[in-house]
Formats: sequence, structure tokens, C-alpha cells
Amino acid sequence: MPETASTPPLTPPASVARWLQWGEAQLSGRVDRPRLEAQILLASAIKRDRLWLMAHPEAAIDPGSYPDWIAQRADAQPLEYLTGRVGFYSREFIITPGVLIPRPETELLIDRALAAIATSQAPRIAEIGTGSGVIAIVLALLRTDAEIVATDINPKAIALARENAALHGVADRIAFVQGSLLDGVGGPFDLLISNPPYIASDAPLDPCVLKEPYEALFGGAAGHELLFQIIDSACAQRVGYLACECGYDQRAVLERYLADKRVSEVEFYQDYAQLQRGFVARIDD
Ligand SMILES: C[S@@+](CC[C@H](N)C(=O)[O-])C[C@H]1O[C@@H](n2cnc3c(N)ncnc32)[C@H](O)[C@@H]1O
Repeated sequence: MPETASTPPLTPPASVARWLQWGEAQLSGRVDRPRLEAQILLASAIKRDRLWLMAHPEAAIDPGSYPDWIAQRADAQPLEYLTGRVGFYSREFIITPGVLIPRPETELLIDRALAAIATSQAPRIAEIGTGSGVIAIVLALLRTDAEIVATDINPKAIALARENAALHGVADRIAFVQGSLLDGVGGPFDLLISNPPYIASDAPLDPCVLKEPYEALFGGAAGHELLFQIIDSACAQRVGYLACECGYDQRAVLERYLADKRVSEVEFYQDYAQLQRGFVARIDD
């Protein structure tokens, strides 16, 4: 039978080079970087790194989950859900389906928040919507004097965040609480930080993004509803600074909302693509 793009070319074991060639052909036209993604998936499936693949093209291997992962990736499953790993703030975290995959631009939110509390001693920090826990964990690693509490409505997220905190040795420094907003969590806090769901419910999204959990993406009909609730929570509790990520087109609506609250020093920041991506505000006593 002739080899086609939809048929595994060989029965295992075949060579590294042949499996990569096959995987690249399967992903071609379906992902932006088919060769690189085939390499990442094969390396992860056989528990080697990409350098090993490059150095051993003739090695005969059993590809493990690779053929199945290639099929899933061709069907828009995010790469990180297949490998179970995601890089964030120069560290590696576990990621599983059912929890949002952290995005690079969220590193900027952490930098802005850290700058805001740079002079606070032993800061108390709250995070709303912790997901995989990356924000709370990076803050715990970079501010070893901080006390942190992080909430999420999604029990899968809370379980994964605890696992990631243990992986990074900060499990005893972060209290993960399953619940909405700051329910059951008492202030005061020097910092309230959040990368909430902020996409409008009718926004067209890439099929790959739609494999991520609905409640992690969509903030309501307009998108900014949860952001408004977070601003209200910050004002209701005694919070020093509020730092939030937001949509590129939400600055005006957020500025109007913040104008009616007891906040000062509101500063919006841009992401790597020069799009509005978040703000830090000082909440007045
Ligand atoms: C955009 S994700 C952010 C995840 C993680 N902090 C990050 O930056 O990768 C938003 C998270 O907020 C959670 N969430 C949604 N509504 C919430 C609510 N009312 N209270 C607490 N968490 C909520 C979702 O389950 C999801 O994990």
C-alpha cells in the first residue's frame, strides 16, 4: 500500500527521521510550525529532548503516544495539553485539559504587580482565578516574604495549582481556595491580582483556543463583567493595589468604571504586540 499523509508510514519501530517526516506531513497546513511541533511531540512521547532527536535520526524507536498525539494535534488539540507541560516565566509547569494554558503576556502582569508592591514588607497577596497557579507560584518564588491566597471556581484548576505549587516548593506559602472571587477570603491585602476571563461570549475564537475551558475564557456577554466584579471586590475589601489583565479593547470601558470608584494612579500597560493588556490601580482607603 502506498504511504499517505493520513496513514502511519511504518509499523513501529521505525526511525526517528521517518516518524518526524510523517508527523510533519500530518500537521502540515493545520498548524503554523509542523516540523517543530512534530519534534516537540516525538521528543515528549519518547521522553527525550529535541537535541537527542537531531543527533539520532537513524535510531529505531517505538513512538509511544506520538501517532495518537499527532492525530489529536491535527484536530486542534493544544500542544501543551498533549505534552502536559507549559513554560511560563522561565519555569516549567504541569498543564492538563480543563485548565487554561498560561500565556506569555501574563508575565507582564506579574512584572507590573511586583513593581507596585516593591516597597511593601511581607506583602499579603490575593489572586482571583488562579488556573494552573502560575501567577501565585511565580509571585511566591520572587517575593519569598509574601503570604498568598488564590481562588478559582474550577476544582480541576485548584488541584493542578496545588500540584504545581508542590513542584516548585511553595505549597506551604500559598492557600488555594475553591470559590468565586474573594468568597471566604479575608483581607486586608497589599495586592489583588487577576487574569480573569475577559472575552465576550460571542467573540469568534480559534478552534484550538476553544479546547480550553469556557469559564476561563469568557467573562460574560460583553466580556468585562467579571473585571467589574473584581474591581468591586477590591474596593469592598481593604486592598492596596489592584492589578488585572484585560482585553485589548477594554481600556475605555474600564477607565469609565474605575472613574466612579475610590481608586487613583490607574496605569494601563501594553503587551508585546503593543496592545492594551492590563492595568494597575491604587485603591484609596
Ligand atoms: C484566564 S484564566 C487565568 C488562569 C491563570 N491565572 C493564568 O493566568 O494562566 C481565568 C481563571 O479564572 C477562573 N474563574 C472564572 N470565574 C471565576 C470566579 N468568579 N471566581 C474565581 N475564579 C474564576 C477560571 O476558572 C480560570 O481558571
